[in-house]
Amino acid sequence: MPSFAVETPGRRYPILVERGSLAKLRDYIPARAGKVFVVTTEDVWRLYGGLLKKEIAQSPHEILFFPGGEARKRLAEVEALAEQMMEKGGDRSSVVVAVGGGILTDVAGFLAAIFMRGIPVIQIPTTLLAQVDAAIGGKTGVNLVAGKNLIGSFHQPLAVLIDPAVLDSLPEREYRAGLFEIIKHGVIADPDLFWLMRREPGRVLSHSPEVVDRMICDSVRLKADVVSGDEKEEDRRRILNFGHTFGHALEAETGYAQFLHGEAVAWGMKAAAALGEMERVLPREDREEIVECVNSYGPFPTVSGIDPRRLAARLKSDKKTLKGRIHFVLPERIGAVRITADVDERFVLKAIEDALAC
Ligand code: GLY
Repeated sequence: MPSFAVETPGRRYPILVERGSLAKLRDYIPARAGKVFVVTTEDVWRLYGGLLKKEIAQSPHEILFFPGGEARKRLAEVEALAEQMMEKGGDRSSVVVAVGGGILTDVAGFLAAIFMRGIPVIQIPTTLLAQVDAAIGGKTGVNLVAGKNLIGSFHQPLAVLIDPAVLDSLPEREYRAGLFEIIKHGVIADPDLFWLMRREPGRVLSHSPEVVDRMICDSVRLKADVVSGDEKEEDRRRILNFGHTFGHALEAETGYAQFLHGEAVAWGMKAAAALGEMERVLPREDREEIVECVNSYGPFPTVSGIDPRRLAARLKSDKKTLKGRIHFVLPERIGAVRITADVDERFVLKAIEDALAC
C-alpha cells in the first residue's frame, strides 16, 4: 500500500498507510534519539502495547497514560504529562510517540510541540477519525471552556503510521464518527469519494477491506495535498473546516459530553449545506444528497432541547471567526466549496434550526 508525503516549508514527512505498519515503528525513530515517551490511553495500550514494546525495546523508553475524553483535553493534562517526562528523564533529545485517537494525537502532539520548546513526535492514529484527519497536518492543541482547540500549535510530526487493520477493534460508534470526516473530504474536493460513501453504505459499514483502504488512502492523499500547499491555514486549508464551525458550537454547547467530534461535524455539515442552499450557493438536490449521505451513517445523539440561538451565539468564539466576522465553508456542489463571511445572519439561525430538525 502507498506512502504519501506532506511537504511544508519546515519539514517533509511520510504518511505510511499499510496493514502491519505498527511493526515498522523502529524504522522511524531517529538513530540519535534519546528517551522515547509513548503517550497513549490504557485501552489502546492493552491492544497494541505488546507489539509496540518490541519496536521500542532497543531505545530507553517510558509509557505515559492520558485518561482520554474530550473533557480531559485541557492544558492541565499536558502539564501533568510534561512533569512526568521531567521526572522520568526527558530532555531535548527525547521523542514522543502518540498512539491513540484524535484527542490523544492532539494532546500528545501539543506536548511534543511545547516540551523544552519542541521535540519530535511520531503519530500512530488508531481511530478512523485520527487516521484520515487529526493525526495528519500538524495541528495540535487543547480546549478552553470558551471553545475547542483554542490553545495549540502547528507541530508537524516526523512520520504518521496508519494501519487500517486496527479499525477492526474500534467500537462501532467511533468508526462511524470517522466516516463523517471522509464524507467531508468528498464534499469539499473529491466527488468520487463522496459517491462511494453515498452509494455503498453497506460495504462501508461492514468494514470491507477494499473500501476501508480506499477511504483512508483517498482522504490521506487529499489532506496531505492541502496541508502541503497551506500549512498554517492561511488559505486553502480552511476548506477542511467544512462542518466544523457549526460542529464545534454543538460540542461546546453540550459540554463535550454528548457528541463525538465526528458526530458534531456530521450535524455541522447538514447546517452548512442548509446555509449554502439558503444563500443560493448550493442546488437543493446537492443539499439533499449531502443530508441523505450523512444520515445513512447514523444514528446520532439526540439534539432535542438544544437552543438554536445559543448555538448561533457560540459561532462567534470559533477560531475561524476573524475580527468578529464568522467565516463559513459553504458547499457549491459535490466536490467544491467556497469560503465566505458574507451571509445573512437570519439564514444562519434558520440553517441551525433546519439542521436540528433533519
Ligand atoms: N482538521 C482540519 C485541519 O487539519 O486543518
